[in-house]
Amino acid sequence: MTSAAGVHQGGKFIVVEGGDGSGKSTQARPLADRLRDAGHETVLTREPGGTASGAALRQVLLEGSLDARAEALLMAADRAQHVTEVIGPALARGAWVVSDRFVPSSLVYQGVGRALGVDAVEALSDFATAGISPDLVLVLDISDDVSKVRRASEDPDRFERESEEFHARVREAYRSLAAQRGWVVVDGNLEVDVVADKIWSVACERLEP
Ligand code: TYD
Repeated sequence: MTSAAGVHQGGKFIVVEGGDGSGKSTQARPLADRLRDAGHETVLTREPGGTASGAALRQVLLEGSLDARAEALLMAADRAQHVTEVIGPALARGAWVVSDRFVPSSLVYQGVGRALGVDAVEALSDFATAGISPDLVLVLDISDDVSKVRRASEDPDRFERESEEFHARVREAYRSLAAQRGWVVVDGNLEVDVVADKIWSVACERLEP
């Protein structure tokens, strides 16, 4: 990774992204396991809620009644704490970090989904991350139909309760930002093991763990 001061250090930072039901949480774990098996200290974490303060923010974010800008600011606050407390120190000691969501989620969900604008939301995220950025962003892409089935949980959160149109916009935003920013799109419709193998082969090709 590259620190705020631009100094290259040993650890690498991988972010797993995708819409609700894309399977990113399922996939982040085997990726972290394989990195550990390869001999790296590995930290598996997530947003929102990767710290104790973040857990409180997560509850408000997933269940509270929030204006879109308040939502964007709380996501950024969660991220600032996460970078300071977890991601930054891990990378500084040479660990590999796998985060289930990071800045791309805000660009897509708040920037496009909530129509706040990608540039405005990116400025907030830049303030929150203080220069820490991922070495690799993987986006799990699933069809609208698969997404609908997987989102049908008994206790959906505020995002999962959003309209089909919102989720379709999220998917499109991931795909178009991926093309612009070098994020790697992986077909998440396939079997869990097949997707895990694909993710590992991309990580090996890009980062040589
Ligand atoms: P997540 O924990 O990944 O949900 P799940 O594991 O149930 O799929 O994320 C919770 C929600 O937070 C998800 O719907 C996306 C949303 N989110 C944003 O809108 N912006 C962000 O910056 C982040 C990190 C998450």
